[in-house]
Amino acid sequence: MSSSLIDRLEADHVLPADAFLTLLMQQTPAVQEELARRARAVRERIYGKTVYIRGLIECSSFCKNDCYYCGLRRSNQNAQRYRLTEEEILQCCAEGWQLGFRTFVLQGGEDPALSPDCVARTVRAIKKRFPGCAVTLSLGEHSKDVFQIWKEAGADRYLLRHETASDAHYRRLHPAQMSLLHRKQCLWDLKALGYQVGAGFMVGSPGQTKAHMVEDLLFLYELQPEMIGIGPFLPHHDTPFAREPAGTCQETLFLLSVLRLMFPHVLLPATTALNTVDPHGRELGILAGANVIMPNLSPTQVRKKYLLYDNKACTGEEAAESVAQIDRTLQKIGYSLTVSRGDPVI
Ligand code: 5AD
Repeated sequence: MSSSLIDRLEADHVLPADAFLTLLMQQTPAVQEELARRARAVRERIYGKTVYIRGLIECSSFCKNDCYYCGLRRSNQNAQRYRLTEEEILQCCAEGWQLGFRTFVLQGGEDPALSPDCVARTVRAIKKRFPGCAVTLSLGEHSKDVFQIWKEAGADRYLLRHETASDAHYRRLHPAQMSLLHRKQCLWDLKALGYQVGAGFMVGSPGQTKAHMVEDLLFLYELQPEMIGIGPFLPHHDTPFAREPAGTCQETLFLLSVLRLMFPHVLLPATTALNTVDPHGRELGILAGANVIMPNLSPTQVRKKYLLYDNKACTGEEAAESVAQIDRTLQKIGYSLTVSRGDPVI
């Protein structure tokens, strides 16, 4: 039963909603192993055994939003707020460049003090100082005009997880001021402007059902993003979801494999959250079909302040300085890092 579903998924890249639901209800170790095996084969056909790296620079922990799951939410009085200067960001990039990073990801909360011009100036400075690098922005929802200014400044990619494609579930995770419609509109705007676009969702977030995950898969199929970020939900002690159970490594791996079969060319990271929930999350993610990792390139003194969830990994092999060690660990499972912008193979 499930193996014919996997055949159909691999052939058609999508299933009708009821068939997706059936597949998601069958998360046995045997199905998981079969999915991962096929996902790895697809990934190796297109990307070989190389893993792309991105240097993640967490440029501001200020946020005007109040998402119930996130430790950086506006209402969290205990969050430590900081904002990197342009010079500090360029310094991070210089260190990353030395280490072999050719993509820099500027990620931050929706910080009103990061004006469109200020971000554009930083993007221009990075592109000028590190010719040939790619710049990815992940700075939340903005108007199409603002996205255009940043695109014209040289930004190549934009990450904006949709978080959940279900309206009802979106409202369970976000206050009434936020809207799924607007978030999706941002993704369509980014696409129209020519960005490589990343969407994605949390696995096991409060109230999430298998039917919601099917909606996520179908929305992603409609959007056809170049990148997809998924990771387990992890509680943060100073949020309304402090006592909610975490998502699992197993289910995240299952979905990574499903996503690889749906989107053979997609750039799919084994995320920090996956590596936080399981000490071998990164390797397991790669073995499930992921082909990107995003080590932390933020200045060490701010890393602990960018606390989206409790125990967020930012040292050891999560740290950009450890690329050599990360490479050794990956080589043990037959993969290796590469110095490259890491654009999608078309
Ligand atoms: N657990 C897991 N992921 C989280 N994110 C935010 N808060 C949490 C949490 N508590 C994810 C969101 C966001 C990305 C930057 O981090 O999906 O888009």
